[in-house]
Amino acid sequence: MQIANQTAVITGGCSGLGLAVAKQLVSAGANVVLIDINSEAGAAQQTAIGPDKALFVNADVTSEAAISAAIDSAVNAFGAVHFCINCAGIAPAERVLNKVGEPASLERFNQTMAINLSGTYNVARLAAAKMAENTPDADTGERGVIINTASIAGYEGQIGQTAYAASKAAIIGLTLPMARDLAALGIRVNSIAPGVMATPLLTAMPQPVQDALGANVPFPARLGSPGEFAQLAQHICQNSYINGETIRLDGALRMQPK
Ligand SMILES: NC(=O)c1ccc[n+]([C@@H]2O[C@H](COP(=O)([O-])OP(=O)(O)OC[C@H]3O[C@@H](n4cnc5c(N)ncnc54)[C@H](O)[C@@H]3O)[C@@H](O)[C@H]2O)c1
Repeated sequence: MQIANQTAVITGGCSGLGLAVAKQLVSAGANVVLIDINSEAGAAQQTAIGPDKALFVNADVTSEAAISAAIDSAVNAFGAVHFCINCAGIAPAERVLNKVGEPASLERFNQTMAINLSGTYNVARLAAAKMAENTPDADTGERGVIINTASIAGYEGQIGQTAYAASKAAIIGLTLPMARDLAALGIRVNSIAPGVMATPLLTAMPQPVQDALGANVPFPARLGSPGEFAQLAQHICQNSYINGETIRLDGALRMQPK
């Protein structure tokens, strides 16, 4: 699907991978709606990208009402929704039992599933309803593209990652049936499963820790850049034949238990 003059809603759009996608799509001529709960970063990024091309909406991905209103704001500002990129997520670490044998917090498990899984589903379903109203692209028949963010932890979760890995495995699991559900409408659905990427999530760690993480990647032996994630997201938006797939972006990394 062509990108110029189309509109993308991007959750987690004020930081890391989501922000990189926003900048990439704007440079390809799109308008972007940044959906995030970080108002300070949102206002700053809207100004930095330019209010004629970017709109920030403060909305929590777990809220039906807030996301519904955010998608309406996207249509009011730019006329339609063509791309939905789900990047909002959290990555708490907690073992099932801690060192003194106490069980992990069920509340934290449920919160991780609510933001990473239900939040992704909530935004995707509401964006799809809006995409269904688009006139199909004259050349490709497409009405829209949804991209979800999984993680290689969804395949090989590490110690302390039960909640995170479960939420990301579920994203991988819903990708094909969501693509099948929306195929008749010309809406494609794919996911990206990143390895270790240099976003604030990781760049907040001490440099030796980042270096060690990068050194474990077979090639190239470094952290991935948000720009590399954004490049892949752009390609998925443009390549009409990629559908129902989760693509690893990890330099051949297969994570060990810890
Ligand atoms: N960085 C990595 O190495 C890596 C690897 C694999 C997967 N991922 C996934 O990529 C996605 C983006 O991660 P990132 O590294 O860019 O992180 P990040 O922390 O830089 O960005 C995440 C953004 O999501 C927003 N957010 C959090 N909860 C939200 C909610 N309930 N509603 C709306 N917005 C919310 C945050 O405010 C933040 O701006 C996440 O889903 C993460 O699990 C990251």
